[in-house]
Amino acid sequence: MAWPDTVRRVSNDADALVEAFHAQTDRRPAGVWAAPGRVNLIGEHTDYNDGYVMPFALAQRVLIAAAPRQDGSWSVTSLNNHSTETFESADLQPGMTGWQAYVAGVVWALEEAGHRLGGADLVLSSDVPVGAGLSSSAALECAVLTALADLNDLDIAGLERAKLARRSENAFVGAPTGLMDQAASTLCTAGNALFFDCRTTEAEQVRFDTSSAGLEILVLDTKTPHALVDSEYAARRASCEEAARLLGVPALRDVSDVDTALQQLPDPVIQRRVRHVVTENARVLEAVSVLRAGRIADLAPLLDASHASMRDDFEITVPPVDLAVEVARGSGALGARMTGGGFGGCIIALVPAGEAERIGREIAKSFATAGYGPPVHFTAVPSAGAQRLQ
Ligand code: GLA
Repeated sequence: MAWPDTVRRVSNDADALVEAFHAQTDRRPAGVWAAPGRVNLIGEHTDYNDGYVMPFALAQRVLIAAAPRQDGSWSVTSLNNHSTETFESADLQPGMTGWQAYVAGVVWALEEAGHRLGGADLVLSSDVPVGAGLSSSAALECAVLTALADLNDLDIAGLERAKLARRSENAFVGAPTGLMDQAASTLCTAGNALFFDCRTTEAEQVRFDTSSAGLEILVLDTKTPHALVDSEYAARRASCEEAARLLGVPALRDVSDVDTALQQLPDPVIQRRVRHVVTENARVLEAVSVLRAGRIADLAPLLDASHASMRDDFEITVPPVDLAVEVARGSGALGARMTGGGFGGCIIALVPAGEAERIGREIAKSFATAGYGPPVHFTAVPSAGAQRLQ
């Protein structure tokens, strides 16, 4: 989900943030921490069905400079929003709104889990596009968590950090997401995609070196406002849970024979939702085999099939997203799909190296013709997960 932001672009390097921290608090930070946004290569709406996902971390990230405070209270400045918010741990209540809820929620989740925290001054900046399905909120949560764990000498393993960040998003902010985004932000490593089993929480780093295959990943943000995302996301999740109940399985992950399952479901909408989840899980497993064998180009048909499944069965795409995917393919992409929760946001396309710019421009032209606003694109390189920088 996305934290509200005016999306002011800020210089996002650690030294600039240290200077900003000094200007804000008149002292030096104890450190600077970072946590990335992600794209999901494949495995959409499978995480909360106990299924499989395969995201990788972006170079775009949230940076946080922090120093402990003696008075136990919290002060948080967002350079993107140009605002400073303060709060006391004792006053934190689930349901808080605004960008600061993603910070306060992490404080709340850590304390709820029994960790003792002192207050802190935090100054943050982000270059993760907001509202684009690239997990700007998970990046913020995981950056705060990484900083607070270090500042308070808390020994919390990566997976546990992801779970705490998700707890804050689910129970404090109130978004019923799965674990994928926080797992990606904390567990991903440079050069790899993360094959993550959301039931067992087993994680495998799978080499994803597109350049060795003469390919690259184009990410194109359609800039489509996705007003429906929260309610539609919750509705999809509810349908999946209802389907699992009707089928008598703990989660849709447990459906092995999709045809038999569909025969047991009377409602065509629920049938389509189930078909998406079951086939998408199978596509993730196929994608893992393809990457393990170094056959990156063979991802393309899986990306295409995933998009068709999200469009026709899970019904989470919107016309600009479908147009971007079609034009990407028509302009030379090997395969393309929407990435993230849906109802707008980004597509990813597997394209020949050096072609991303041209294909991005072709999509922009088609958007102008269709009367849509200009999209924004970049190429994505699998990057490091949350870490201390200084
Ligand atoms: C959002 C959620 C994730 C996941 C995706 C869809 O990003 O935060 O947990 O469900 O949507 O795959």
